[in-house]
Amino acid sequence: MDQIRLDYTNTLADAVSPERGVLESELKELQPRAAQALQDVLARRDKDLRWLDLPYADEELEQILDYCASVKGRFKNVVVLGIGGSALGTIALFTALASPYHNDAPPGDLPRLFVLDNVDPDLVGEWMEHFHPEETLFNVISKSGGTAETMSQFLVFRDALIRKLGQAEHRSHIVMTTDAENGVLREIVRKEGYASFVVPDGVGGRFSVLSPVGLLPAALVGLDARALLQGAAEMDQRCKTTAMEDNPAMTYACLQWLLQERRGQPIAVTFSYSNRLKNLGDWYAQLLAESIGKRKGKNGEDVFAGPTPVRAVGVTDQHSQVQLYVEGPHDKWFTLLSVEQADHVVQIPQPGPGLEDLAYLGGRRLGELFHAERDGTRIALTEAQRANCTLVFPKVDAHSVGQYLYMMELSVAIMGELYGVDAFDQPGVEAGKIAAYALMGREGYEARRGEIEAAAPKNPKIIG
Ligand code: PA5
Repeated sequence: MDQIRLDYTNTLADAVSPERGVLESELKELQPRAAQALQDVLARRDKDLRWLDLPYADEELEQILDYCASVKGRFKNVVVLGIGGSALGTIALFTALASPYHNDAPPGDLPRLFVLDNVDPDLVGEWMEHFHPEETLFNVISKSGGTAETMSQFLVFRDALIRKLGQAEHRSHIVMTTDAENGVLREIVRKEGYASFVVPDGVGGRFSVLSPVGLLPAALVGLDARALLQGAAEMDQRCKTTAMEDNPAMTYACLQWLLQERRGQPIAVTFSYSNRLKNLGDWYAQLLAESIGKRKGKNGEDVFAGPTPVRAVGVTDQHSQVQLYVEGPHDKWFTLLSVEQADHVVQIPQPGPGLEDLAYLGGRRLGELFHAERDGTRIALTEAQRANCTLVFPKVDAHSVGQYLYMMELSVAIMGELYGVDAFDQPGVEAGKIAAYALMGREGYEARRGEIEAAAPKNPKIIG
């Protein structure tokens, strides 16, 4: 089967100077620490890091596929109500593996897919104006089963369904994905008897794309959930070795750590030279930011750690960001996502007489131009001493995307050990959730509300 490849030549000092690039001796030196980090992470597979085993969850996959078969042809729309780790994986999978025009012309009897990962009333209200809840299956996804955004959306759509379909019938339009035991959502499932799937223990939101969180909506719109898991399983097998040169997850983690900590490049740009892969950059941004962006180190000391993820899309952002990337501050390193074989061949016609300036394009393919632009950017970055690596996808399919997802999850887990932070908590996110509960007047959060009000600026500076 085709493997994705990590080409890190241009992250090395030989390519971009010793000041900007990593020395091979530094990678060698870091190898024992990285190997230990890998082993420490893998040793938690049966304990608190159960996401490592998701590629082998065959029984859960069968349950998902059975459920999809049972609702096949019944709904025109699937709407995911979820946020953060409960949404970004699905968006990435849908963009990568479905046609960009799927929702305009859904193939066969497949439903459209919408992910409403915001409570902006203009997003939710607009959806309600254009589509019909009674033609829709709502997949409510929340690991904690209590996130205010998702719960409020659930209440909105449950109400709309009950008004249209009545109390009994509305139930078949909702499927929940949440913790097996805990949270309000699980309580609601018990009370109402909604269909439901489990986010297993040891699978945090941002590590959950290969659980029912990502697989159920993917399978509902006809994506190949089995091939995703196969790709992930193959990457898992590949990444068991502690040999740096054979383990892409480990090497990538080391590059990230060295380029930030030893070369002062705190910004990690995922530059997708594939329109279909562009939302993998959003998914990875959350994975990296929430996992490594931490105030406290493992011993409780202040470390204020974390790279800043940035996403860009080629060629679009060549006409927007690349000027900064090539000539701006030396504070970024780049991961290009590159695809060898596109699904489509689009021929550029000969321009004809009078258009000699366009002759170089005539008879070529759009794919050739796309690759030339990607290579042009890589050359410009390298010549300007900007460290860059390339993740090469043989093609965009569920198998290669599954490999990528697993590689990056494992890599970030290893980064957690290298940066000395807990990659699996998110106290900063919880702080924001608590402040929002307090502002919304949730019971039990009165004291926090008092603190927020007391700290409000006495003399706000506002223009206009
Ligand atoms: O990665 C995470 O843990 C977070 O981004 C969560 O996914 C997000 O806050 C949503 O939480 P929940 O799935 O509990 O509703």
